[in-house]
Amino acid sequence: MLLALDHITKRFPNGVEALHDVSFTVEAGEFLSLVGPSGCGKSTALRLIAGLSQANEGTIKWRGKPPALGFVFQDAALLPWANVEKNVRLPLEIAGLDDAAIKRRIAETLELVGLSTFAKSYPRELSGGMKMRVSIARALAAEPSVLLMDEPFAALDELTRERLNDELRELWAAKKLTVVFVTHSIYESVYLASRVVVMGPRPGRVVADIAMPEPVKRDPDFRLTPAYGERCRQVRAALNESVVA
Ligand SMILES: Nc1ncnc2c1ncn2[C@@H]1O[C@H](COP(=O)(O)OP(=O)(O)OP(=O)(O)O)[C@@H](O)[C@H]1O
Ligand SMILES: [Mg+2]
Repeated sequence: MLLALDHITKRFPNGVEALHDVSFTVEAGEFLSLVGPSGCGKSTALRLIAGLSQANEGTIKWRGKPPALGFVFQDAALLPWANVEKNVRLPLEIAGLDDAAIKRRIAETLELVGLSTFAKSYPRELSGGMKMRVSIARALAAEPSVLLMDEPFAALDELTRERLNDELRELWAAKKLTVVFVTHSIYESVYLASRVVVMGPRPGRVVADIAMPEPVKRDPDFRLTPAYGERCRQVRAALNESVVA
């Protein structure tokens, strides 16, 4: 166990109870998808994990000291006045890294997301998918061991999204990352994850926790297998039940 959410309840000052008695664990090296309908508290849960917000009840515990986290927001959240390189650079400067280390990390992460030749481009000159890759590069540049992602591909066309799904799986394997990936797409959650935690609406709670360790290697052919179909059916059934209940 790397991370445990233990009986988390989150109420906002306006009285909205976004999460009610939510418990789940995250194992080191796991690719965990958090799936659920709009408004069920997925972003709230991710922000709590990131320490950007505090729970009213319950605890969030890391094994050992909290690891370096990377956070990828739903919109790429790039600085419009800064080029790609500068967007990746700023958090590293704030973290106080020396210039040589910063340059190395910028070069490495842009290479990794396939944007080396766009280092001098401005966000307005990039497509949505490219902006998202800059956002991922920026998160990775901090060399996190845990990557928290909030519907990063929701705004992209299907094919771009599928390609970025594959790239993300490869990155996860190559860097031995732990990933918590929020999505409302059943298909995306099943394709990516080694485990899917299903949340139900109002107030957000966990309704199913489904392991999907196989196959380790995912490629577009996986989408055509009976195993993939069966797992999508399982997640869909859990979502349906939670809405009816
Ligand atoms: N800062 C806030 N103040 C008050 N209520 C909030 C706040 N943030 C979220 N909420 C409420 O908490 C609930 C859960 O919101 P959250 O953003 O976590 O949902 P979500 O699962 O991420 O939805 P989506 O899939 O649409 O992004 C919603 O009812 C929302 O209105
Ligand atoms: Mg959200």
